[in-house]
Amino acid sequence: MDDFSYVEGVLCAEGLAATEIAARFGTPTYVYSRATLEGHLARIEAAFSSMNPLICYSIKSCGNVHVLRALVERGAGMDVVSGGELERAWLAGCPMERVVYAGVGKSEDEIRAALDGRCSLLGERARALAGKMPAPPRDPVGRGPIGWFNIESEQEFETIAAIARDMGVRTHAALRVNPDVDPHTHEYTTTGKKETKFGVDIMRAVRFFEAYGRDDHLVLDAIHLHIGSPVYETGPYVEAVVKALTLIDELAGKGFEVRTLDLGGGFGADYETSRSPAAAEYAAAVAPLLEERVRGGLKLILEPGRTISANAGLLLTRVEYVKEGPGKRFIICDAGMHTLIRPSLYGAFHFVWPVKVDASQVPPKRAEVLDLPGLSAADVVGPICETGDFLARGRMLPEVSRGDLLGVFGAGAYGMVMASNYNAHTLPAEVLVERGRARLIRPRQQVVELLEPELRAGS
Ligand code: LLP
Repeated sequence: MDDFSYVEGVLCAEGLAATEIAARFGTPTYVYSRATLEGHLARIEAAFSSMNPLICYSIKSCGNVHVLRALVERGAGMDVVSGGELERAWLAGCPMERVVYAGVGKSEDEIRAALDGRCSLLGERARALAGKMPAPPRDPVGRGPIGWFNIESEQEFETIAAIARDMGVRTHAALRVNPDVDPHTHEYTTTGKKETKFGVDIMRAVRFFEAYGRDDHLVLDAIHLHIGSPVYETGPYVEAVVKALTLIDELAGKGFEVRTLDLGGGFGADYETSRSPAAAEYAAAVAPLLEERVRGGLKLILEPGRTISANAGLLLTRVEYVKEGPGKRFIICDAGMHTLIRPSLYGAFHFVWPVKVDASQVPPKRAEVLDLPGLSAADVVGPICETGDFLARGRMLPEVSRGDLLGVFGAGAYGMVMASNYNAHTLPAEVLVERGRARLIRPRQQVVELLEPELRAGS
């Protein structure tokens, strides 16, 4: 599952005590394990090896450049959804031909930057800093166009094609089709049903190819799907792939060759022990449909985010106060909805446990309810002035005291990337543990950094 485990009652990351990490870098801090990131990528590679996919890690799930570099060094491509993520991919050293660009609202500036590095959205200052990183990326001027734009609408196709023609650049497009498949996940992260804003109704796909499938600059020769996230069943993928393959055959009958099928992301993560099917189960479900197509020349792309990053991250937080409420305890921490919004926004479960515990209270697994001595119910909450600010509610936990550390597990995906400055709190630090050694990969934001832009604007 991951490289966070208890050693003699102390939570460790790759064997390094979380108490040491907190002492060195403070709290709240996101701690990532490089071994876990690499292990998860390797597991997907191995599971899908018979289909030889290009694995484009979904930057939106955890986008720190140093995390991305670790994955690019292992051969991953990148899935981006904004100009900012595009620059992250480039700074991580990802070859642009391994980048897919999704997202419903790409702006013209973002499109230009994706087509031609001369339009990079990085300022001179950031470029100079990039040159000082351990493995400097190539000059953005020569970085070339990205591999694929995932197209969400007719207007978007026309806009990107016109810009590409204007710039004299050629690249590929995948039509994102909406297969109208229910992934049985939270309504906010369901994307493959027809009432959502994503993709083009699969019934309209043939007409789309007839209108745009002969463009010289934006070559429409791929299909993209992304049904939702997280998807804990393999059935919805099978259903979506069957629909996509039927479409591909129909298009072939009309003279349009689809060379690439992008299945998107959405594989589950183990927020609780063994909650998610393994990568091998997702692969086994679609392999009978895809292996022969791949042998026939179809290229497969995957866009996993959470399944790589979620269990690779731990949020370390310190207990500020413990307060007795009527019938329950409130454990008030320095992390809250501004640090990790998933419990507040989606009612998502994250396993929370003290970093130091008695031998009898070492959790045998991560689950909502554990049968251990000395537990009592508590709400784990943050400092934000909202009742909706919580990390866990009604959770059975050991006794904790002011100053104790807690670990919030499975926080690597959609944690730091969704953190905010609400209530003028600063963003947490990020630390990468590599072979048991911790490295600061983003310092804690300082209050002055929050205020400086406003003070400058007023001067
Ligand atoms: N590809 C596309 C087109 C996507 O929209 C997404 C996620 C992914 C790939 C990666 O999905 P993953 O493998 O990470 O599940 N904030 C929510 C999740 C939003 C997912 C958005 N799209 C959460 O915290 O659960």
